[in-house]
Amino acid sequence: MLEKIIIIDFGSQYTQLIARRVRELNVYCEIHPFNNIPEISSDVKGIIFSGSPYSVRQEDAPQIDLAKFHQKYPVLAVCYGAQYIAQYSGGDVQPSSTREYGRANLNFVVSENKLFKNINTNSQVWMSHGDTITVVPDNFEIIASTDNVRVAAYHVKDSDTYAIQFHPEVTHSTDGKQLLENFLVDICGLSQSWTSDAFVDSTIAELKEKLGNDKVVLGLSGGVDSSVAAILLHKAIGANLHCIFVDNGLLRKDEYEAVLEQYKHLGLNIKGVDAKERFLSQLAGLKDPELKRKAIGRVFIEVFDDAAHEVQDVKWLAQGTIYPDVIESISVNGPSATIKSHHNVGGLPDFMKLKVVEPLKTLFKDEVRRVGKTLGLDSFILGRHPFPGPGLAIRILGDVTAEKVAILQEADAIYINNLREAGLYDQVWQAGAIFLPVQSVGVMGDERTYENVICLRAVESVDGMTADWCHLPYPVLAKISNEIINKVKGINRVVYDISSKPPATIEWE
Ligand code: XMP
Repeated sequence: MLEKIIIIDFGSQYTQLIARRVRELNVYCEIHPFNNIPEISSDVKGIIFSGSPYSVRQEDAPQIDLAKFHQKYPVLAVCYGAQYIAQYSGGDVQPSSTREYGRANLNFVVSENKLFKNINTNSQVWMSHGDTITVVPDNFEIIASTDNVRVAAYHVKDSDTYAIQFHPEVTHSTDGKQLLENFLVDICGLSQSWTSDAFVDSTIAELKEKLGNDKVVLGLSGGVDSSVAAILLHKAIGANLHCIFVDNGLLRKDEYEAVLEQYKHLGLNIKGVDAKERFLSQLAGLKDPELKRKAIGRVFIEVFDDAAHEVQDVKWLAQGTIYPDVIESISVNGPSATIKSHHNVGGLPDFMKLKVVEPLKTLFKDEVRRVGKTLGLDSFILGRHPFPGPGLAIRILGDVTAEKVAILQEADAIYINNLREAGLYDQVWQAGAIFLPVQSVGVMGDERTYENVICLRAVESVDGMTADWCHLPYPVLAKISNEIINKVKGINRVVYDISSKPPATIEWE
């Protein structure tokens, strides 16, 4: 049985980070919002309460039934969670009189307490709270303090309930990982056996059990998620997995062939569908980015549906959904507002009436990469930059034509190849060229030119939510610019995008 930790989310910006840290310690965990906690099954070995932007003193502050957990499971309560337990057990929480934000050092630690094994006084912790626990009930033992925070940590005597007002998940808490490990191993008794290998073995076994002899269709994109999902499914059900890879004509230069070639080695059963014309004709004349996205999404569903219908008796649709998508859709605050209609492109066509299987829906992106590595996936696919579903259509501003796509593909290929040659590709989170439908004057030889502009974009990011433009070396930029202007007909000017996100976005449309 897969042992796990449940993290109850009260809305803190750090909740996902707690999950990441727990998983880095090879313990599987799930995040559930405080207002939608599932039935706790016997495989749950401990509970973590997250922080929250709320104060426990607010009337509309998040509430849960503590009796469900206290004395039933080991509990580690962080920040708001710590204040919540203190308040509801007869203690008191008040606004802090001194600033309790940023780094602090523990000046008192009960080092015999299991939670503080191998953590000494002076250990640096990260505080981030406007309230502080001023009074703890008699059965609470204070097990750590800082100069300003007397109740930096407490233990509810004769129980496995522990609480801290600092954030162990933030790297500024230098012994944070040790503290979490103490909780997971010494207090919850977890075995730290959740590794990529274990994930692969258990997922393949589960997929076999779930899918039996059923046929499954999956849309491959050439990206990491759909590729890893495909390999897992292939290992579980072999030829019953039917992959569909659609060429929408908006991929990078030679990408369709290169990706199909990569997949060949993996023994996957793939149907490549050349739908270039279908996409281009539906895009003709469309200038608005959202209309372009919608058209592409619609045609994708039609093309995919046609291809899927060629597989007889298919029962399942496999998707490469990953954990952040799942968390977002069930988060305390609900799905976040859509700024671009994107991340839904290629979503479930509901008229297909297939059951859905999502083998990666418990994994974060870097975990998917690790699993891909365990499965022997080539670094060509594993290390690939993210590429948007609507492809080059949203990197050609305004209307899309076959000619513009061809120009952009050439310029983009020169750009990406140069990044690879300069050893910069893996340092950049995402890069791509953008076609600007602006003409400017230039001179080539003795001739005046009046041609379009290519913009280069390269960003550093962790998850695409925020991003900084990369400071690419000038000599590399110079070489790329020269090569594009000399080799790509129709382009006489290259510019570099130096905007960060926010306020800009990564894509131009
Ligand atoms: P933005 O432009 O919103 O991009 O800063 C953030 C990340 O999302 C990708 N992106 C898309 N991905 N369909 C996708 O599948 C889309 O319509 C889309 N638009 C943006 C973008 O490439 C970046 O990685």
